Amino acid sequence: MALGEGLQKKIETLVSGRVLFDEPMCNHTSMGVGGRVDIILYPCSVKEVEKAVSLLVTEDIPFLAVGNCTNLIVGDGGYRGCLISLMELQRLEIKEEPDGRVSLWAESGVPLSRIVEATIKESLGGMEFCAGIPGSVGGGVWMNAGAYGREIKDVIGSVAVVNGNGKRKKIEREGLHFEYRGLDLPDSTVITGATFDLLKGEGREIQRKVTNILKARTKKHPLGQRSAGSVFKNPPSSPAGRIIDEVGLKGTTCGGAMISEKHGNFIVNRGGATTADILALIDITKRRVFETRGIKLEMEVKIIGEEL
Ligand code: EPU
Repeated sequence: MALGEGLQKKIETLVSGRVLFDEPMCNHTSMGVGGRVDIILYPCSVKEVEKAVSLLVTEDIPFLAVGNCTNLIVGDGGYRGCLISLMELQRLEIKEEPDGRVSLWAESGVPLSRIVEATIKESLGGMEFCAGIPGSVGGGVWMNAGAYGREIKDVIGSVAVVNGNGKRKKIEREGLHFEYRGLDLPDSTVITGATFDLLKGEGREIQRKVTNILKARTKKHPLGQRSAGSVFKNPPSSPAGRIIDEVGLKGTTCGGAMISEKHGNFIVNRGGATTADILALIDITKRRVFETRGIKLEMEVKIIGEEL
């Protein structure tokens, strides 16, 4: 995307965090793949998010909010537009309401793992299921992240956003429409933070649950390898990982990408993978599962940008 010199200058001074131009996304995605994005902005406050969205809308530059890019695959041709990274928004506060309820407020860039740690320390129950989920608050809320029978929607209190007009807004639980691995918000919405309703508990009991979850994840998931987490949503009939295992696709390779030998619903980068390699494996999987089982797998990872 050709930005005039004047516009480039305006963008450079929009935020107090980093502003990167023509940046390779393979340096940012957990999968280690992806072409160049025109602009990445790192706002350091909600005010700066508002300013950024307003300018991008005025200048008609496509944009998308991103967290720590753990569930994201970017095309080898990159992304034309601007990614707004929320990773500099790191405030976390725990508040006890007069009626005894406890809520945790976290900005979008806070890693879910930091929330889990904070709740163990303060003996607050409810967030244990997030243990080991690599995402951040913004991404976790956007995707309605879940594990072991619980999802973000079970603990959410409210979500703070900057809407497509560049204005901040708070949406209470009743106004949020979660679905399986998703939250129904317009694409132009930037989530800046969320509150979670927690329960006072026993520190040791919470720690025990977290340890068990981390153990289970380490046993089942290929954690030592670069991946983007679960590739497909679980169809109602059976978990995607089990189906892919049963149709014999584990270990299938394409270039540097491989369907994990440990868990069928993970694609790993063995080194040198491209997005094209990953998309080819996704295609092979969808086809084989449809032909042999009549099931149409749906994507869980978000794919953006252009192919080469
Ligand atoms: N299974 C196989 N072969 C495989 C993989 C799995 O037989 O290759 C079987 C397992 O033995 C188990 C069942 O399939 O009986 C389900 O597998 P698992 O417990 O690993 O959970 P999952 O359904 O694959 C979901 C979430 C994960 C979350 C786990 C734990 C989805 C798509 N995935 O995985 O979320 O961590 O449950 O609750 O909902 C993520 O979203 O990125 C993610 C990792």
